[in-house]
Amino acid sequence: MTDLPADKGYKYVPEDRSKRATRIADEIERLVGVSGLRVLDVGCHRGEIATALADRYGCEVIGVDIEAQPNWDELNQHPRIKVVEGDIAQPLSSLANESFDRIISISAWEHIRHPWSALQQCQRYLRIDGKFYLFSMLYRSAGASHLLHRIEERWPHLLFPPEEIRERLNVPKLGYAFWCNKLTYQQYLFYFRKLGFHVTFERFNQDMFDHKTFRQYEQRLELYPMWDLKTDFFKVVLEFDSAHPKQPIADMVYRLRHPSS
Ligand SMILES: C[S@@+](CC[C@H](N)C(=O)[O-])C[C@H]1O[C@@H](n2cnc3c(N)ncnc32)[C@H](O)[C@@H]1O
Repeated sequence: MTDLPADKGYKYVPEDRSKRATRIADEIERLVGVSGLRVLDVGCHRGEIATALADRYGCEVIGVDIEAQPNWDELNQHPRIKVVEGDIAQPLSSLANESFDRIISISAWEHIRHPWSALQQCQRYLRIDGKFYLFSMLYRSAGASHLLHRIEERWPHLLFPPEEIRERLNVPKLGYAFWCNKLTYQQYLFYFRKLGFHVTFERFNQDMFDHKTFRQYEQRLELYPMWDLKTDFFKVVLEFDSAHPKQPIADMVYRLRHPSS
């Protein structure tokens, strides 16, 4: 029998949005130092985190989101915040090359349909001495369906077809949150290397694994690597090497340092 990761009895509890934004802004300041800097917030949604960064740390924040929100007119009155509608995976004429000291993105990357192109664009926008804080869910997490509060089983997106989930929930359509891009963390690492992003900080959240569902559907779930099934989120800081900024990072797997011939 498989030796299972810990079951922490995880339950989804929504957090107060403004307290959450403060907590995240403080963590960003601790990890990448944002005081007084120009920051791009990718997938900013209603801009709570952008507001916390502008108010608490005097940042000038540009927020980008593919879907404009009803509070954006009000948000754009803030002297240090500007929000723009656009797909981060496409070149955006309002954003110039090398124009941001920091890029941040929280709980948005998993919803970006073209994550490679989005990383490419961010590589362009970030200054060579800039830092990129990225926090994202991973598709093979027990909670990546974003339906933990509505469906008893974990990993429903890996176990059941979308039509079955739609019928069970009795809804005409599953919201965008159900659709996460399918990148694994290893694929992210490959992309980071190609774009010259060094990982200078890395943490994982591993809270949602559930023994009951795993045992019930072991035949199907054990086909995935256990690390993927137990890892819900990654959090990284990405930076360029000052001597070779934005250059692909060689991987030792591909070449011998001292070839024999
Ligand atoms: C779950 S919300 C996260 C909002 C915010 N970062 C936070 O943590 O409160 C994800 C956001 O990503 C946005 N998004 C999805 N795909 C995007 C894309 N290609 N370009 C820009 N934003 C995108 C969605 O519209 C949504 O507002």
